[in-house]
Amino acid sequence: MQTVKLSSGYEMPVLGLGTWKLAGKKCKEAVKKAVELGYRHIDTAWIYDNQNEIGDALNEIEIERKKLFITSKVWTDNLRYEEVLEQCGETLQQLQLGYLDLYLIHWPNSNVDLKETFRAFKKLVEDKKVRSIGVSNFNITRVKEAKIKSEVPIAVNQVEYHPYLNQENLLKVCKENKIILTAYSPLARGRILDDPILIKIANEVDKKPSQVALRWLIQKGIIVIPKASSEKHLKENMEIFDFKLSEEQMDEINGIQIRIRLVNPGISEFED
Ligand SMILES: NC(=O)c1ccc[n+]([C@@H]2O[C@H](COP(=O)([O-])OP(=O)(O)OC[C@H]3O[C@@H](n4cnc5c(N)ncnc54)[C@H](OP(=O)(O)O)[C@@H]3O)[C@@H](O)[C@H]2O)c1
Repeated sequence: MQTVKLSSGYEMPVLGLGTWKLAGKKCKEAVKKAVELGYRHIDTAWIYDNQNEIGDALNEIEIERKKLFITSKVWTDNLRYEEVLEQCGETLQQLQLGYLDLYLIHWPNSNVDLKETFRAFKKLVEDKKVRSIGVSNFNITRVKEAKIKSEVPIAVNQVEYHPYLNQENLLKVCKENKIILTAYSPLARGRILDDPILIKIANEVDKKPSQVALRWLIQKGIIVIPKASSEKHLKENMEIFDFKLSEEQMDEINGIQIRIRLVNPGISEFED
């Protein structure tokens, strides 16, 4: 599995399994199947309420811990120092893990100074409960604020990113600050699958539109975490390392003018 080096020095696989809306037996089966197929990176969050199932799945597979990359997120209502430590403890217990590879602030919360949350993140890193830290749903202004307020380097910003939400300015600022972007909803929850440009390019490279979208993101230096529950989709989403998009094909996708924000579309603070 291809990886990128984070500012923390750790390697992060460029493809992971998203698990939002995966619950119960379905979640356990999807995680087991994904790891069997070669996935090494799983994205979850305390609020997804599926960490017990993911923990059980990883336990049953008996894969070496160091071969996995596990991301979780502290919920936006729990960003005070003690709350972060407590929720991380709960997360580790549910996942049956000794440490997380990456711990993110799930959503910003203007009522809590970022300094307080990052002080807790620093403690978690010092206690070896977390390897790398990051944020999620942070716009350019907040990324710059986070960079100033955290003593531990911010390794990742996880945001909605797909061909219908090409956030070039945010990507540029993150790159300048050595922050890797992770694309959530990289398939726009299926909305991009009928796009004529993606279909045309998919025919040219003999791939599926979903694979073209994921490949486009990876070639931009972005990590992808598509959620899939069927074996067919899990497999398809892995088969993105045996072809390359040309510069012209990349530009065609960059030029798509449709802009759809699926998660919290009403929030105007994103528009910078
Ligand atoms: N940080 C945040 O605030 C935040 C917000 C949203 C999401 N996320 C993370 O990002 C992950 C992915 O985002 P998402 O779940 O919103 O959307 P997504 O990955 O863009 O789309 C998931 C949907 O696409 C389908 N799908 C998967 N692979 C496919 C393929 N090869 N061909 C056709 N359809 C396919 C899935 O169907 P099946 O399930 O039937 O396979 C599912 O319905 C989440 O699971 C979560 O881990 C984070």
